[in-house]
Amino acid sequence: MKKVIKNGTIVTATDTYQADLLIDNGVINQIGKHLPLDDAEIIDAKGCYVFPGGIDPHTHLEMPFGGTVTKDDFETGTIAAAFGGTTSVIDFCLTNKGETLKSAIETWHAKSKHKAVIDYGFHLQIVEMNDDVLHELPKVIEQEGITSFKVFMAYKNVLQADDETLFRTLISAKELGALVMVHAENGDVIDYLVKKALKQGNTDPIFHALTRPSEVEGEATGRAAILTGLANSQLYVVHVSCADAARKIAEARNNGIDIWGETCPQYLVLDQSYLEKPNFEGAKFVWSPPLREKWNQDVLWNALKTGQLQTVGSDQCSFDFNGQKDLGKGNFSKIPNGGPIIEDRVSILFSEGVKKGRITLNQFVDLISTRAAKLFGLYPRKGTIAVGVDADIVIFDPTVVRTISVETHHMAVDYNPFEGIKVTGEPISVLSRGEFVIRDKKFVGQLGAGQYLKRGKYGASDHSGTTNLV
Ligand code: URP
Ligand code: ZN
Ligand code: ZN
Ligand code: ZN
Repeated sequence: MKKVIKNGTIVTATDTYQADLLIDNGVINQIGKHLPLDDAEIIDAKGCYVFPGGIDPHTHLEMPFGGTVTKDDFETGTIAAAFGGTTSVIDFCLTNKGETLKSAIETWHAKSKHKAVIDYGFHLQIVEMNDDVLHELPKVIEQEGITSFKVFMAYKNVLQADDETLFRTLISAKELGALVMVHAENGDVIDYLVKKALKQGNTDPIFHALTRPSEVEGEATGRAAILTGLANSQLYVVHVSCADAARKIAEARNNGIDIWGETCPQYLVLDQSYLEKPNFEGAKFVWSPPLREKWNQDVLWNALKTGQLQTVGSDQCSFDFNGQKDLGKGNFSKIPNGGPIIEDRVSILFSEGVKKGRITLNQFVDLISTRAAKLFGLYPRKGTIAVGVDADIVIFDPTVVRTISVETHHMAVDYNPFEGIKVTGEPISVLSRGEFVIRDKKFVGQLGAGQYLKRGKYGASDHSGTTNLV
């Protein structure tokens, strides 16, 4: 059935205006006033913003990590995402040395296919570059539509790749039309610092932060940027947490290197002191890179405002406090790294960003949706409101004031790192390809309704308009 969303204020990355939307067959069919209402369901969005569904470019759903598996899978994770105003996620498909890429990708399809309630795609981890991997990469792009490769510069002896792998990945990505993503921390130096801390009996969660100082993030970010320039390639730095790394990205951009930076809500509103909470509660805030001294937040906000950082991902990687985080009691290095963020990403950016005057409303839409669509080959099918594009839409009440809490969130974990934080604004209804997933704050979606997204090549669908149009 056709739908008309009436009386709302449409917000895109560039414009804010009053208009109604006609949705037919899952796509936006008309935008304007006085649209034909015959045989259409009318949805009243009076007083609300109507913006493109969020795209979360950084999630780890059902990921084995730190001796356990993340609590939220493609079912609970995508339901929570939808409640939070996100209609697409791009999850990291992990690979193992010696395993074919095809087999790793099949594993991720099996996790997601019958569960996801919103659309989803995959980035592919490159842990080692060799002839077999090189041979498979073109098929990964052409057949799977996976056009972004992730290299970890940290987590020694687990996920970490060496510089040769990073450099060869950058060269291949340039040839094939893919974007390389890095987790930028110097894993070798961290490994040394962790061992030293433990030897000295420093086992509490705060030592997670103290053994990963911002210099190791800055150094790895700068190194990756230089290798990107040398390979004449393209790079996206995930989860930028601090001034040291943000400055390296800004410097490289000034030097003409094709480099992009993502930060996450946790780095914008929480700080290192959270890791010092008593009774091991600091473990709730253990992820990498770690939370930083508070002054870094102003630098990150400013980088978002001025365009030195371009996206906000969640880095959703959730573990229960009881039963998972406590694997690291008595040894901080065994605390599974990651936090539950997917549901609150959009609201925190709106409340802390737009409402507090740090970014504009249009920048907010760019940061939570449009820019990720452009960088990851989904634009304009996703990431904007225009005739002919997927009707992935959030109806957002910008006036509701509420308090974030584990009591009301929809993630599968037993705590929320933003517990007690007051936010203004809330998604009321969320549509994926024209169908309600959330309606009047209730889940009405269907398991398995989310479609796998084959994505376009890097740079192929920027502003030109029609590349991915249906
Ligand atoms: O601590 C984190 N961020 N866990 C998820 C894996 C990663 O590094 O992104
Ligand atoms: Zn990471
Ligand atoms: Zn991550
Ligand atoms: Zn452009």
